[in-house]
Amino acid sequence: MIKSLKGLALLVLSVLCHILLVNSQTQNSVIKIPPFDVSQKDILPFLSVQGDITFQVPAVYVFGDSLLDNGRCVSLPYGVDFGGKPSGRITNGRNLADFIAQMLGLPFPNSFYNASGSSNTITGIDYAFSGCGIRNDTGLYPFGLECTPLAGQITNFESSISSLSSHFQSKDALDKHISSSLFLIVTGFNDISLTYGWDPSKFNNDIESFVSELANLFYQQAERLYKLGARKFLVGNANPGGCIPSRRMESPSCNETMTGWTDAFNKKLAETLTKLEAANAGSKFVYMDMGKVLHDVITNPGPYGIIDVSHACCATDPASPKPGCLESKPDSCPNGNQFVFFDRIHPTEVMHFLTLKRCIEDSTICSTTLVQLLQA
Ligand SMILES: *[C@@H]1O[C@H](CO)[C@@H](O)[C@H](O)[C@H]1NC(C)=O
Ligand SMILES: *[C@@H]1O[C@H](CO)[C@@H](O)[C@H](O)[C@H]1NC(C)=O
Ligand SMILES: *[C@@H]1O[C@H](CO)[C@@H](O)[C@H](O)[C@H]1NC(C)=O
Repeated sequence: MIKSLKGLALLVLSVLCHILLVNSQTQNSVIKIPPFDVSQKDILPFLSVQGDITFQVPAVYVFGDSLLDNGRCVSLPYGVDFGGKPSGRITNGRNLADFIAQMLGLPFPNSFYNASGSSNTITGIDYAFSGCGIRNDTGLYPFGLECTPLAGQITNFESSISSLSSHFQSKDALDKHISSSLFLIVTGFNDISLTYGWDPSKFNNDIESFVSELANLFYQQAERLYKLGARKFLVGNANPGGCIPSRRMESPSCNETMTGWTDAFNKKLAETLTKLEAANAGSKFVYMDMGKVLHDVITNPGPYGIIDVSHACCATDPASPKPGCLESKPDSCPNGNQFVFFDRIHPTEVMHFLTLKRCIEDSTICSTTLVQLLQA
């Protein structure tokens, strides 16, 4: 039990943001990451998108957990590659939502929990909340985190709609705004790693039933967004749970048990998205296999200029299970993009960028490629 408490504490940390020293080496990345302040026109070649393309996507609305939360981690080294300052994001630089915004020519979405007033809702907003999940009780147990789960995030989106409506002359114009916006959702990892992982016997060690129930809850929440007018959905799956550095501290290889759990969820999620699209006229639910992007890089990092696939880049506390970067070592990760992981849980900016790049060009990563979704 003690051991499992330790394992969980590792995973939960997303929220606390506080964490092994790894040497970094210098070598130029093979994958070129666009400069921080890149323009829309200039980011397209980095993504292998043909130059004269236009997207009629007015906003990106973001839901999920720490992978896309952009309000929580406010001390360096988090944000070291985000114009050099902490940005709330739980990585060194931009996250997937930021890169998508740059591709669409939109400003970076603000965190709902930090945005003042309604000024930013028109080009998108980020409702993601670290440590939380699809289930209402994920995060609460066993650590009592105060969470905004997926249901609450969608309730927050509902409240944004009322402030959004003042920007539009008619209900039709507002509806058109929502239906042409992108809804990006990445969640489920914490439900598995925290809620199920803490004590699988509470769920009769039955991962299949657990993930079926999760998928049902996801279905209900996605339909709520559909009823609010959302049509274009991009839904990320869970990273291989056994491969994150916090799970490798006791054994250098990926933990197959945990990866089996996230695989079970991912399979259900893909089926659920197919059902959602079939049942909801005019909708497009794209499954994004983020876990495969991570897995591909972990098994063959060379072509991406990545040198370390298993350790946190930033300094973490070797004596503690906390997965977050040590605030007392703000300079500890000068070459984040040569690592897969920034802290003991969260991937680096290069992984976020690669996810977008592969979603655009590779139909084994995104069931409908992102350009098709955004131009539909
Ligand atoms: C967002 O708000 C939280 C408290 O609500 C605060 O701790 C955090 O520093 C803020 N993040 C940013 C990026 O301002
Ligand atoms: C989760 O919480 C929301 C309220 O925020 C509630 O409407 C919903 O029924 C709850 N879901 C479950 C499965 O308890
Ligand atoms: C892998 O994870 C499971 C579930 O947390 C745990 O019971 C098992 O001991 C871990 N195996 C190794 C080799 O760490």
